[in-house]
Amino acid sequence: MYQCYIRDRKIIVNAKVLLVEDTPSLARVYAEYLKKAAFTVKVVETGAAALEAIRESAPQVVLLDLQLPDMNGMEILKHVSGQQIPTAVVVITAHASVNLAVEAMRYGAYDFVVKPFTADRLLVTVRNAVERLRLAQLVDTFTDELARGKYHGFIGASFPMQAVYRIIDSAAASRATVFITGESGTGKEVCAEAIHRQSPRKDKPFVAINCGAIPKELMESEIFGHVKGSFTGAVADREGAAARADGGTLFLDEICEMELGLQTKLLRFIQTGTFQKVGGTRLEKVDLRILCATNRDPLREVEDGRFREDLYYRLHVIPVHLPPLRDREDDVLDIARQFLSDYAAEEGKGFRRFHPAVEQVLRDYHWPGNVRQLQNVIRNVVVLHDGEEVTAAMLPSPLNQHLALQPQPSHRYQPASIEEPVVAHVADAYPVSPGPRPIRPLWLVEKEAIEEAIAACDGNIPRAAAQLGISASTIYRKRMAWEAEGRA
Ligand SMILES: Nc1ncnc2c1ncn2[C@@H]1O[C@H](COP(=O)(O)OP(=O)(O)OP(=O)(O)O)[C@@H](O)[C@H]1O
Ligand SMILES: [Mg+2]
Repeated sequence: MYQCYIRDRKIIVNAKVLLVEDTPSLARVYAEYLKKAAFTVKVVETGAAALEAIRESAPQVVLLDLQLPDMNGMEILKHVSGQQIPTAVVVITAHASVNLAVEAMRYGAYDFVVKPFTADRLLVTVRNAVERLRLAQLVDTFTDELARGKYHGFIGASFPMQAVYRIIDSAAASRATVFITGESGTGKEVCAEAIHRQSPRKDKPFVAINCGAIPKELMESEIFGHVKGSFTGAVADREGAAARADGGTLFLDEICEMELGLQTKLLRFIQTGTFQKVGGTRLEKVDLRILCATNRDPLREVEDGRFREDLYYRLHVIPVHLPPLRDREDDVLDIARQFLSDYAAEEGKGFRRFHPAVEQVLRDYHWPGNVRQLQNVIRNVVVLHDGEEVTAAMLPSPLNQHLALQPQPSHRYQPASIEEPVVAHVADAYPVSPGPRPIRPLWLVEKEAIEEAIAACDGNIPRAAAQLGISASTIYRKRMAWEAEGRA
């Protein structure tokens, strides 16, 4: 079992070390040093045996001689970093191969020790490696466990939304265009504002233009501005959104509604960073970041000739897709509770909670209008009713119809009574299934899900982790814990 902690500045270690060394006399000496310092040591002589040992159970530290009889030690290093295995590789090298050792560090080796070395030098290096690994895992644990339930204007802690928050985190610092897609009411504007507020431009203007809401003939002037007298009604010079957003962010909402002629002008603006006001002759230059959004399928618009392909590829640099509300696990309840408390405060009403049956309807309804529809439903309830608890009878159409469609009594929604075992509910609610599924411990369900995902990804842990929506280090950490608890 891997234990490592600092007490009185002395590090006590019982970590696993894999020693890859093909000279038996040296291997014996090094192993002796490490065992005396309470490390668990496994010695292998070949690269193939090393890879096998790492696959079987990742050690905390690999002491790696680069010149192995069957392969270059660099291959092992590449495997460890490619699979993101939480192992610190320390290269053992002869004077002659110091350059190689330095190159190995470029591939992610933690350190190197030059032969011949003292026991002290070896132990200090290995202990530091173990400690660094422990700290890195601690950081990972906190990062994983700090699932964010709120992020700028978003509420929601579901996995799909965590992925959205992470993309925004990574994309915010760049100037690259972000293309936001998602059904109506999924929060595309909230997303654009989040990107701006997370970015270094946050203290500069955020200017949003809705390409679907402005008459087509005025659109060009809205974006680029106009000079006095350039068209009927242009009684004075006017700055457009591009000039107002200088230094900040320009959000082109409902971009697919923009007419083709203006798309050409927008493309030129993106390519050159310059534009002319309507009726103007002077080229103006601005520094801004463009975000755009649509609830259409942009590629379909390109295929159907309504959206310029070259503009699409210019804009579609970082895509962010907002999942529909029905795919966001229990976010719907978190958002609904927040809206209930906000609107109750605004309207001077006493609502504090939802009846469990209402919560179930909120969870099960398919929300074609997404968060905006949820907002309207809660506003409707708060304005038209009174009380502390929102009951099923208060729900407006079509949610009340949804309630009528539910099986009565609704086995999926009611908590099991003490007399009735939970399995009876499950069997009743899914009569087509051959019988009640046995209840298994949660760790086992989780372990099976993770192992199935790894198998489905042909053993590629980073890929399996990505599909499970967790980090590769989480998988490695869980594996270590199963091993430590005898559940491997
Ligand atoms: N995750 C969320 N948490 C809380 N409020 C949200 C969330 N997502 C959206 N909203 C709110 O829902 C409403 C709709 O969001 P927004 O206008 O950003 O959606 P949209 O995708 O741009 O919609 P449309 O396609 O109709 O333009 C807004 O009032 C917004 O504040
Ligand atoms: Mg919108």
